[in-house]
This record gives sequence, structure tokens and C-alpha cells, in this order.
Amino acid sequence: MMAAGARRGKVGLVGTGMVGSSFAYALMQRSVATELVLVDLDRRRAEGEAMDLNHGLPFVSPMRIRAGDYDDLAGAEAVVITAGRNQRPGETRIDLLQKNAEVIADIVPMVAAAAPDSVIVVASNPVDVLTQIAADCAGLPEGRVIGSGTVLDTARFRVLLGEHFAVNPRSVHAYVIGEHGDTQVPVWSLADIGGVRIDHFVGPGGRQKSEVDRDRIAEQTRRAAYEIIQRKQATYYAIGLGLLGVVEAILRDQKTVITVCSPMLGRCGIEVRMSASLPTVVGRSGAEHVVELPLSDEEAEAFRHSVRTLRASLDQVRR
Ligand code: 2OP
Repeated sequence: MMAAGARRGKVGLVGTGMVGSSFAYALMQRSVATELVLVDLDRRRAEGEAMDLNHGLPFVSPMRIRAGDYDDLAGAEAVVITAGRNQRPGETRIDLLQKNAEVIADIVPMVAAAAPDSVIVVASNPVDVLTQIAADCAGLPEGRVIGSGTVLDTARFRVLLGEHFAVNPRSVHAYVIGEHGDTQVPVWSLADIGGVRIDHFVGPGGRQKSEVDRDRIAEQTRRAAYEIIQRKQATYYAIGLGLLGVVEAILRDQKTVITVCSPMLGRCGIEVRMSASLPTVVGRSGAEHVVELPLSDEEAEAFRHSVRTLRASLDQVRR
């Protein structure tokens, strides 16, 4: 591991499509990194993004942004992978599996060889299965391959709860765990606002949760990506910001609790080799501690079901 004083603030990005470039655009505005290297199979695309981003440098803190190859990732502290195809209207994330599994299995060994001290952050879908494949082929210490997991689902859940109760979503502490996809589990039993469980919380204007809202909010959280993809073919701004939060936690060693996904074997009663999301302390070494949530029996079973479903998807991948 690099000594603390030797940290360079270098970030790598593999895949400069809409998710990757939204992340890059967010990153340059937060003064978190000193250098960003953009790698893409389509080198000209990476060059074009680097040029466009560079022209924004007079408006932000100084940093170096350039297109490069895998070797140029050397010394990166975090490498974000967004490469691969994204969903078309009507497709699930799992529909992308075979193609993107091949992409990840190609890319990750090259990233790990070039930047063996980095934390690899997978964002390509289906993210949980691809993170497990990445962890299996990276050969890096435990915790150093993570995925964006349910970062976005958790954000959507908090936004919807914040709208419902008329409070800032940053004041809503609520998590979505399990799959970044259809079997995800919103953890209602632990959701709170200002230290008050939402079952008891009364917001401005006297708004209180009801059973009907619970079903609607869970469904809207789960279906959010489908709704956006039907309208604009892709989602990228919110995940770009979510990835920024993960990378910032790594570069600044923040120990921030984020619902990234990481391999779950041996945790929370999970006996299969599979990556899924739980609130996780994220710092310089990646997933540094997975929080054992005191789930209700129903939620714990739903979480195990979600992980089993993901594992069945992983078993379908032709190797
Ligand atoms: C999302 O949830 C498509 O996984 C992407 O927005």
C-alpha cells in the first residue's frame, strides 16, 4: 500500500459513455482529484471527452485530464469502470449479462495489473454480478473491488421519502439493499428522519406515512430506471454523482457509509459467492466494513432471496 503522504489524487475511468462522462464532469467540479485518465476502446471518444472537459478547467480547481491506455492508470487510487452496453427500453439489467461479463473479464485484469493499489469501482450493469466477476478476476485484497450497487436505489428511495414528508432527502436515513434491480429490498424497518422512525415521523404540514405510500414508494424506487429509460434512453446524471461520492470516500479516506456492493460470502447469513449491497464503510481500502443491519425477519429473508437470485444469474454466465 502507498504511504499516506504519497497519495496523488489520481483517478482512472474506463468507459467514457454517458455514465462515465457524467462522473468525470461531476468529479472535476468537486476538487477531489488531481488527475483523471480516461480509457475507452474508442480512443477518439476518450480524447474528445478529455478535450471537452479540459476546456472547463478555467472554471474549476486545477487538475490534469487526459485520454490514455491501461498503462496510464498506474498510480490511480480509484478506477471506475462504466464500460459495456446499457439497457434499452424494456430490457432488464440482467439482460445485459453475457455481453458485459465478457467486457468486465477483459478489462479488470488489465486495470488490476496497471493499478494494483487502486480500488476498482464497477458501475456497468448488471452491477452486482459484474462486481463479483470483477472481484474474482482482479486478484486484489478483499474489499478493493466494489460496485455502485444500490447507491442509486438508495438515493431514489431517500428522494421519494423526502418528497413525501417534505424534508431534504439528505435528512432521510434509509437504505435499499440487495440487488441493484428487481429484487432490491427497501429497509422500511430502519428508515428514519431526524432520528425518528418514519412510522412515527410527522413532517411539515402533518404528513405521515401510510401503507399505500409504502407500496407506491417501493415500486417507484424499483421502477425508476425503467421510467427514465423509456423517456430518455439512459440514466447518467444521478449515477455520475453517486460514483463521485464513492470515489471521494476512497480518495479522502472518509469512512462514509454507502450502499456499494461487494462480495457477501460469509456475511449476514450469505453462503454463496455473490456480490450485493448493504450499507458499507467506504475508505481508502474500498469496502472496509459491511454494516450488519438489524433487519426484520421479512427483510432478512428478502435480502437472502435477492442474493440467491443474483447468484443464479451468475451461474448462467458462460465461461
Ligand atoms: C439505473 O438504475 C440503469 O442501472 C441504471 O439508473
